[in-house]
Amino acid sequence: MPNIVVVGAQWGDEGKGKVIDMLADRCDIIVRFQGGNNAGHTVVVGGREFVMHLIPSGILHPGKYCLIGNGVVVDPQVLLEEIEGLRASGIEVENNLGLSDQAHLILPYHKALDKLREQKVGAGKIGTTGRGIGPCYADKANRVGIRVADWMDDEVFRRKLAMNLEEKNALFSRLYQAPAFGFEEIYRAYAGFRERIARCVVHAPVFLNEAIAQGKSVLFEGAQGTWLDIDHGTYPYVTSSNATAGGACVGTGVPPTKIDRVMGVVKAYTTRVGEGPFPTEFPPDLMGKIRAKGKEFGATTGRPRRCGWFDAILVKSSVLINGITEIAVTKLDVLDDSPRVKICTAYRLGDKLLAHPPAAIDRWQEVEPVYEEHPGWLKDTSEVTSFEELPPQARRYLKRLEELLRVRISIISVGSKREQAFRV
Ligand code: IMP
Repeated sequence: MPNIVVVGAQWGDEGKGKVIDMLADRCDIIVRFQGGNNAGHTVVVGGREFVMHLIPSGILHPGKYCLIGNGVVVDPQVLLEEIEGLRASGIEVENNLGLSDQAHLILPYHKALDKLREQKVGAGKIGTTGRGIGPCYADKANRVGIRVADWMDDEVFRRKLAMNLEEKNALFSRLYQAPAFGFEEIYRAYAGFRERIARCVVHAPVFLNEAIAQGKSVLFEGAQGTWLDIDHGTYPYVTSSNATAGGACVGTGVPPTKIDRVMGVVKAYTTRVGEGPFPTEFPPDLMGKIRAKGKEFGATTGRPRRCGWFDAILVKSSVLINGITEIAVTKLDVLDDSPRVKICTAYRLGDKLLAHPPAAIDRWQEVEPVYEEHPGWLKDTSEVTSFEELPPQARRYLKRLEELLRVRISIISVGSKREQAFRV
């Protein structure tokens, strides 16, 4: 099995967890490279639902090693709760989990800042998950973040925590009129978490490159999606990390020359959570139907997801930016009851037709989707186990996507269970 990066090619929630679960069987190491517990990767195994926020979805496969890379921001309390939750469900989490010594720590003041900023800007808010992701990455870029290696050294941790609190508490009191954080409370809690996590800490770049040199294969598990990427997404309505394939190298220390394949995951339609442009968003009646059938509620925050038609302009650009070599299409069954299905093939902006999304956010908000319409299949696909068994209209829809995206579809998923998916 080659080294493969799996990324979301829309706005996240494409069903990456399930695709990773399918691919994990054939590789040795599964690594998360960006984001934090803003992600929620859902996998249904034997009627039980597992939602992973930080630990790679590959943990459900015995004998695989899972790693949280340097590009991830880690809330240690959430990590410990997740470890305990998995153990309580009978999943082994022992020497099969590693945490990079270069990953950054999310601290309580990051979470408070995330929420206070969103409240303060009101209508102009991003709609973040409130998990402290943005403020933690801001500290990283500002070179005041606390990394796992700093946390492991008590003296360094104390010094950096005190320095950060001085600055953050001034912000809380002067700008937000919010209560300050005390040093002792955070220090004690994080010293406690440290004891329980210390044994997982590894220097990931050396570990991963040595493993690859020994012939082991790595699966890079992307979180969020291309259009939430801090550089390539619908900025500023994005997350704060690189959710695109390049992020896999930066967020792990594995060079681009070691990546063999990039799989893009898409839903058969489109969804997004939070604010920001969404050209193909459904009108309210269709929104209600697809949201209910697709159970489109966030795995992390429970927020209802916005839903819309498949946007080939968006995904075509994702193929380009990520170098996608194959596509997995999920939730095809959710369109089973639609008498017609639409695909957006261009954006109209004034009297111009655009083949790629515009960079400026105000232009993004103005584009009108140009659709082509296809007959629906009006048949249950949830038990189909091969491409040939799909109704002809569904096959034509998928073939048309391949034609527009110029990349082959290699996995199709027709339900949430492990067995409701097949290779093409
Ligand atoms: P943040 O990552 O919490 O800062 O949120 C920034 C934006 O990314 C918001 O619109 C969130 O709804 C969105 N977002 C973050 N993580 C995910 C995810 O895993 N799936 C879908 N949307 C996400």
